[in-house]
Amino acid sequence: MFFVFILWLLLANYCSTTSIEMRAFRDFLVNQHLKHAIIIRAQEQQQQGQWGYLKEIRDLAMHCHIRFHRVSVKHDIENLFYKSSPKVGLYINITDPGESLHVLRDFAVKDKFKNSYAWFITMRALAEGLLDNLKIIKNIFKPLRLHINADVTLAIRVNGSRFHLFDVYKILPDFPATAEVKGNWSLQQGLIIDPMFKYGFMVRRTNFQNISIKVATVLHDKPKDFTNYTFLSNNRDWKELDPMPRKVYGLMRPMEDLYNFSFNIYYDTSWGGYIDVKTAGIVGRLYSHQAEFSLTPFRYLSGRVLLVDYSPEVHLERANFILRHPRHVSIRNVYLAPLAVPVWWCVLALIILTIVLLVIQIREEYKRWSQHHVQRKQLEQHVNFAMLVAAEALLMQGPPSEIFHLISSRTLIATVCVFVFILMEFYNGYIVGSLLAESPRTLTTLEALYNSNLELGMEDIQYNYHVFENSSSRLMHIIYKERILGANGKSHTNILPLEQGIYRIAQGGFAFHMSIDRAYRLLKNQLNERQFCELQEIRYIPGYSTGIILAKSTPYKEYVAQVTLKLRESSLMQYNNKLWEFHKIDCSLIKGNEIIVDMEHFGAALVFLGCAIVFSVTVLGIEIFYKKCQKLQK
Ligand SMILES: *[C@@H]1O[C@H](CO)[C@@H](O)[C@H](O)[C@H]1NC(C)=O
Ligand SMILES: *[C@@H]1O[C@H](CO)[C@@H](O)[C@H](O)[C@H]1NC(C)=O
Ligand SMILES: *[C@@H]1O[C@H](CO)[C@@H](O)[C@H](O)[C@H]1NC(C)=O
Ligand SMILES: *[C@@H]1O[C@H](CO)[C@@H](O)[C@H](O)[C@H]1NC(C)=O
Ligand SMILES: *[C@@H]1O[C@H](CO)[C@@H](O)[C@H](O)[C@H]1NC(C)=O
Ligand SMILES: *[C@@H]1O[C@H](CO)[C@@H](O)[C@H](O)[C@H]1NC(C)=O
Ligand SMILES: *[C@@H]1O[C@H](CO)[C@@H](O)[C@H](O)[C@H]1NC(C)=O
Repeated sequence: MFFVFILWLLLANYCSTTSIEMRAFRDFLVNQHLKHAIIIRAQEQQQQGQWGYLKEIRDLAMHCHIRFHRVSVKHDIENLFYKSSPKVGLYINITDPGESLHVLRDFAVKDKFKNSYAWFITMRALAEGLLDNLKIIKNIFKPLRLHINADVTLAIRVNGSRFHLFDVYKILPDFPATAEVKGNWSLQQGLIIDPMFKYGFMVRRTNFQNISIKVATVLHDKPKDFTNYTFLSNNRDWKELDPMPRKVYGLMRPMEDLYNFSFNIYYDTSWGGYIDVKTAGIVGRLYSHQAEFSLTPFRYLSGRVLLVDYSPEVHLERANFILRHPRHVSIRNVYLAPLAVPVWWCVLALIILTIVLLVIQIREEYKRWSQHHVQRKQLEQHVNFAMLVAAEALLMQGPPSEIFHLISSRTLIATVCVFVFILMEFYNGYIVGSLLAESPRTLTTLEALYNSNLELGMEDIQYNYHVFENSSSRLMHIIYKERILGANGKSHTNILPLEQGIYRIAQGGFAFHMSIDRAYRLLKNQLNERQFCELQEIRYIPGYSTGIILAKSTPYKEYVAQVTLKLRESSLMQYNNKLWEFHKIDCSLIKGNEIIVDMEHFGAALVFLGCAIVFSVTVLGIEIFYKKCQKLQK
């Protein structure tokens, strides 16, 4: 048996109509700010009814923008509604409860009693008292699939042009219907609605009567001696294990008390597909309506929006590169570091100039004083002597004063001493300062990381692949291709399990892409405080927003959204974040505690001395050999 109905779409604003029911409906649409409506009308058997009805349509058509559809409801309901269209008002006049029930049932089967459809159902009072009427209402709605988010207003015409309005919903489709007095409508007073109904249904329907709602979560690493639930509800121990499911469970737990229900938790083994894998994990479970929402947060991805709905943000997942920052990134030797290259060249030029001047002056000294003094021999080899004198002056020793008598020589030597004094102040000051001061961190951007000689890797976890492969940043692609997959041209890739990645970060010279909070917790056990303070994250993105995902058809979407926003507003979300946040040690207290000059820094001096020794020994050998040769010749 199938019904043919005529439905039409009307713009609510300017319609005028003679029928009382239609006027009430028009007021209802205006009150709810609805612009579109569908009027459902059973095709009547009697000619007479048809007449009045056509007249009514004519009246409406004069003032309204109307489209007519003649459809068989059973088959074509979906065609009446656009996907994600704005809220629509639906109107039906129940003349014969038995017959109209079939129509309503057809709509109920297609799940059309949810929040995005505002139903306005009119009927004549079938009984005298209010209680009797409520009983009748409950009977009518008993077989219909209504949810807690139903928006059904039942208008019972009691007396002439007066309607009593009731709000009807069910906790679950197989629960008895609940009807609440919503207000009334009369020709004189128009629509009078109880102030309580000005707010969303989430504010009014807060008692779910102890039902249990199916939700899903993932517990990946669970210690053996915990049961699933005791571990999920534990927010004190084992914080280094994947914290997300427990954190969000702890956050959403008040929802149970708020609405008087309990979670019936499924423990899935995976989060589920990104785009094509619809059947796996939590996403698959929600897609096939086996659960209402998840208790683990999911990253917002456009591919997932087709499969599931999202709540507002519940957790910010910070996943970045983390590494132990090398102490000195510059290639320059620490002994050369204090002065810039041009300054070194100037110093060298000045020293050479000084030596040249000294050579000239020593020659003068020699000419004047050679008759009176016996320093002839020393002064004979001008160049060697001049270099020695210059070196003495540079090392602030100064040559014996009695050697030089000319004012010009003494001025030169004195000037060199002053110059050297200034140079040394800079030099020593810098080296001591640079050892004391924390060296500036230069590896702080993706670009610097890419140009560094560190090895780069990432945790072998689903979201990481997506982060790198589908990032909008070109550099991320390059890093992934060249440095993580290619691993500097070696045959292996640097996609590692968590433990290996942590171990390699601890060893140093390795940057690993993973969840930052977790990395800190795990590394805290492996590093001493000083090493821990060397940790550096490359914050190329503040974090990834995540939200709870919900099945597309779930009636609890508004509730979850409301709860998450309320938790944020009341700072309970921030409190929960604090609870799970990793509290870093204060590295400013550790800085500079322990200064040791290590081989890396001091090595250059040793190498220099070593080379000098080798050189001098070689020269000594040559000299002895030369002497021996001379003796032999004699
Ligand atoms: C609605 O049904 C009642 C009978 O139950 C009838 O009197 C009334 O005219 C109908 N209104 C419309 C608009 O069809
Ligand atoms: C119905 O209307 C009459 C007058 O039109 C009034 O006397 C009576 O009280 C009304 N009954 C109800 C239930 O409103
Ligand atoms: C109509 O609604 C108003 C406001 O809710 C209420 O004060 C009044 O008593 C109602 N009248 C009837 C007859 O229910
Ligand atoms: C929760 O629902 C149960 C069952 O309807 C009821 O007995 C209980 O009083 C409710 N609790 C609260 C706090 O409303
Ligand atoms: C609520 O349901 C739980 C099980 O889901 C049950 O243990 C408890 O007794 C129920 N409470 C009430 C008031 O019905
Ligand atoms: C605990 O969780 C695992 C998956 O993490 C699941 O396989 C197992 O069935 C769960 N146990 C119970 C008692 O629910
Ligand atoms: C990246 O996006 C493309 C296109 O949207 C998709 O086919 C691919 O599976 C995504 N990669 C990952 C790792 O999800």
